Amino acid sequence: MSAIVLIGAQWGDEGKGKVTDFLARKADMIVRYQGGNNAGHTVVVDDRVFKLHLIPSGILYGEKQCLIGNGVVIDPAVLLEELDMLHQQGVATDRLRISPRAHVIFPHHRSIDRAEEEYKGSGKIGTTNRGIGPAYTDKAARVGIRMAELVDQEDLAEKLRTAVDFKNRQLAELYRSAEQIDYTQVLDEYNGYAQKLAPYVADVSLLVNDAIDRGQNVLFEGAQGTLLDLDHGTYPYVTSSHPVASAACTGAGLGPTKIDQTIGIAKAYITRVGEGPFPTELHDAVGAALQERGFEFGTTTGRPRRCGWYDAVIARYAARINGLGCLAVTKLDVLTGLDTLKICVGYECDGEVLTEFPYSLKKLARCKPVYREFPGWREDITAVTDYNQLPANARNYLQHLAELSGVPIAIVGVGPGRKQTLALRDLF
Ligand code: IMP
Repeated sequence: MSAIVLIGAQWGDEGKGKVTDFLARKADMIVRYQGGNNAGHTVVVDDRVFKLHLIPSGILYGEKQCLIGNGVVIDPAVLLEELDMLHQQGVATDRLRISPRAHVIFPHHRSIDRAEEEYKGSGKIGTTNRGIGPAYTDKAARVGIRMAELVDQEDLAEKLRTAVDFKNRQLAELYRSAEQIDYTQVLDEYNGYAQKLAPYVADVSLLVNDAIDRGQNVLFEGAQGTLLDLDHGTYPYVTSSHPVASAACTGAGLGPTKIDQTIGIAKAYITRVGEGPFPTELHDAVGAALQERGFEFGTTTGRPRRCGWYDAVIARYAARINGLGCLAVTKLDVLTGLDTLKICVGYECDGEVLTEFPYSLKKLARCKPVYREFPGWREDITAVTDYNQLPANARNYLQHLAELSGVPIAIVGVGPGRKQTLALRDLF
């Protein structure tokens, strides 16, 4: 039995959906513990592509229990759409359970998200505009509405009234926005969602702890990535939750002694969506090639992702913050055909070479990457089924990537499909 936390070791979009799907084969339970529908996890099963924003990727296997923990913020309309999509594809969802402690996203959260970004102008974060930040803000301010209140008609009517009155004032008086929320309409809409979602609400913390105590394999599926973490990321260009491994405990309701292993997912290069400094960003033909070949466009917003070389400074930082036991390196195939590959091993900044990720964003913006170069390969690797079949230069690149990151590699992705995954060691 094992409890494994799987996290993004970069700025999100590392391919967590695919790796979760791969590991879910041997898991009994898959748990989301933070974020919301700002996440977009793509899973390709045979020739079918599933894009999941809230429901754990493990739902695609028939018999696994899938849980949404208290640390997640839930947009009920999106969740119901996702459930409908799965039903249409013949995927059963009766094994889904949602924590009553998870907070709910309302239209006023989306309105405030947009208004705040507009208000900030050139200082905007580049959020996904899904209301994520404002929903977590309300949670911290103790004025949020949780699933427990959503499914209680009286509670919902009362708490929504207070929220809408306040948010309408905020929109009109602070942001000078013409947008106003219609209380009755939203109440009606959300009462409808509540009826449909009520059967899924259950004490997730109890279910998770019980599964671990019974010796089951539990997989915690992180969303976003370490550098988007509210505390440990490139603040303020971060999301409003905690994508790091330790948040699995607070976000699902279990103690740290119950976690056995943490796995970091990292692309063989690196990408970032939204604003903020990015030392290895490429503004040249290689960057454009990575974007095109890697289909680097957001699953949630469709925005193009900024692309750059693999950054081992970031990988070591992610290893430290998350206590990574191993790495899953995804999208190795996207590097095929490049003559020379580079890995950033340090940053040149103000006359010195930094090997630790700086906490000052101003300093990070002044950092110039120091690279080591490696020869590329031309052979198509998308049909490779065993690590030893990879071209020697690909293995050489991976070996150095692991050494420079200070973490061994357990999984390598050579294409988007479920089968295009090489396991170097057993994790469950
Ligand atoms: P928010 O989470 O919508 O508030 O957006 C805050 C920042 O996190 C923005 O830079 C987003 O682009 C980024 N972000 C949020 N979710 C994801 C994700 O799943 N992948 C990559 N970036 C994300």
